[in-house]
Amino acid sequence: NKKGFIFDLDGVIVDTAKYHFLAWKKLANDLGIDFTEDQNEQLKGVSRVKSLEKILNWGGVSISEEEFLQLMDKKNTDYLSYIETMTEDEILVDVPKVLNLLKVENQGLALGSASKNARTILKKVELFDKFDSIVDGTNVTKAKPDPEVFIIAAENLEIAPEKCIVFEDSIAGIQAANAANMISIGIGQKDVLSEADYVFKDFSEISEEFITQLINKH
Ligand code: BG6
Ligand code: MG
Repeated sequence: NKKGFIFDLDGVIVDTAKYHFLAWKKLANDLGIDFTEDQNEQLKGVSRVKSLEKILNWGGVSISEEEFLQLMDKKNTDYLSYIETMTEDEILVDVPKVLNLLKVENQGLALGSASKNARTILKKVELFDKFDSIVDGTNVTKAKPDPEVFIIAAENLEIAPEKCIVFEDSIAGIQAANAANMISIGIGQKDVLSEADYVFKDFSEISEEFITQLINKH
């Protein structure tokens, strides 16, 4: 009984969601635009381009295409400076435990991230070789909540979408998983991720029994 387990990266495997937040907040504030926690939730899982479009929209600010590209570059440079010294220490609690369990159980393992920096980060935290397939922002044309990233991951694993399980910390990602007809598991707060099939605060709350049930579900 083989299932496909698809992991988002930022905010699920590593604690990089806080760095994306810091970089976007700085950019928004520099433009004189307020940036709240609530707005940040709406940017989680969303591509770099879409995120900047939303921020400009919230602030009612319009800029030239050239400036738009410069700002995207600047945000990424800031972000890269935050993750420069990142190590395995920033892997979130019990993620390696769950990955190892799934490996032992011979399950399909994929990464499904919106980030163009995903491969760099996986190498930094030494998890690059853990996945059978990596699908990230360099492999997709449509951003979450579009299901494309997860559909491609399932195809690469050669497992039907209905037999895939997605771990996500973002509203857009949960919507993408649901749209792909996959089981959606939210990592974070129940009230924020209310559209998910299940929600856990973090992987320490996910028992071996729960994983076994997911594997044996028909
Ligand atoms: C997602 C993050 O994983 O990747 C978003 O949740 C981020 O915050 C998006 O904007 C794109 O990432 P990057 O690294 O390509 O700018
Ligand atoms: Mg995420």
